[in-house]
Amino acid sequence: MDYKFQIKQALESEMPEIISKLDYYFAKEPGYFEELVPVLYHRKINTANHHLVVKDNQKIIGVMAVKINQLISYNNTYQVALIGSLGVDPAYRNQGIMSMLFDYVVNDYAKGVDFLALSGDYKRYKRFGFEPGAKIECYKYTPKISINDRYDFKTVDLDMVNYCQKLYEKEAFIFNRKDFFSHITMWKYQPYIIFNNGLPIGYFVINPSNFIVEEIMLEDKTMVDEVLYGIATFFQKEIRLKVSINNDYYCNYISSSIIPEVYFERNLYRINNSKLSNVLVTRCDLI
Ligand SMILES: CC(C)(COP(=O)(O)OP(=O)(O)OC[C@H]1O[C@@H](n2cnc3c(N)ncnc32)[C@H](O)[C@@H]1OP(=O)(O)O)[C@@H](O)C(=O)NCCC(=O)NCCS
Repeated sequence: MDYKFQIKQALESEMPEIISKLDYYFAKEPGYFEELVPVLYHRKINTANHHLVVKDNQKIIGVMAVKINQLISYNNTYQVALIGSLGVDPAYRNQGIMSMLFDYVVNDYAKGVDFLALSGDYKRYKRFGFEPGAKIECYKYTPKISINDRYDFKTVDLDMVNYCQKLYEKEAFIFNRKDFFSHITMWKYQPYIIFNNGLPIGYFVINPSNFIVEEIMLEDKTMVDEVLYGIATFFQKEIRLKVSINNDYYCNYISSSIIPEVYFERNLYRINNSKLSNVLVTRCDLI
């Protein structure tokens, strides 16, 4: 299709400009996206491959990140296009550039994927065919000293990385995250192994700056409730757990009595391109 402006794959040499434009579009302090972009799209890869730019002659006037990821669900593998970092130069807004980018991505660039996913303002994305896909909520836990002595928590050393990776892969629906340790530490999160009577029973990953448990994986899901109390006691802090409410890994086993407050919520939207109807999107690290 012919568009009013050119849409191109970003070049590596354009990334500094793209990153500073994203700070500007999103009214962030300089440096915000410089830190975020490599984390979102992985430090080891060329992030330009995951950005489209809109150009007026040689000038970049719009940006959209589209990362095509592989997901695994119950032995099936899917392709998903994750969309984020979308912005248009103020002088070019309301001229259909965002709409043009979506038209290109949905009908051409990512046409072959099983589904597309994003988060953000639903009113804005509904018109392109996105529908509610999943919801992420955060729950707050207060410590209870009495249960603590059942569990022991140790930071993850390299010997235990494989253990974490295997456990992670048991979850029903995941991104193909091959490099557990570098992925986790990129976000400056701290991974811990959970021991019960000296044996590992799972791991969790916590953000030490706000005590949000970003991820918890247990051999026995039914223990999630008391392990969370144990973690709260271990840190002697109120902790928070981030969880997709469509993800029964946690939700079926967290007692309602200890979900006093939902303080964080993010909706994810998706377009199904293929036969999929019941697949959930759970781990979308989008902005
Ligand atoms: C959001 C943004 C990318 C839109 O770009 P744009 O090129 O101006 O968008 P378009 O011209 O294609 O579309 C604008 C249309 O969407 C509509 N629209 C925009 N935001 C909307 C919203 N929140 N709810 C409903 N409609 C919305 C506009 O009314 C307009 O409607 P029209 O097509 O009927 O005239 C741009 O405003 C921007 O860069 N904002 C700052 C960064 C940002 O917020 N990014 C999105 C993060 S989720």
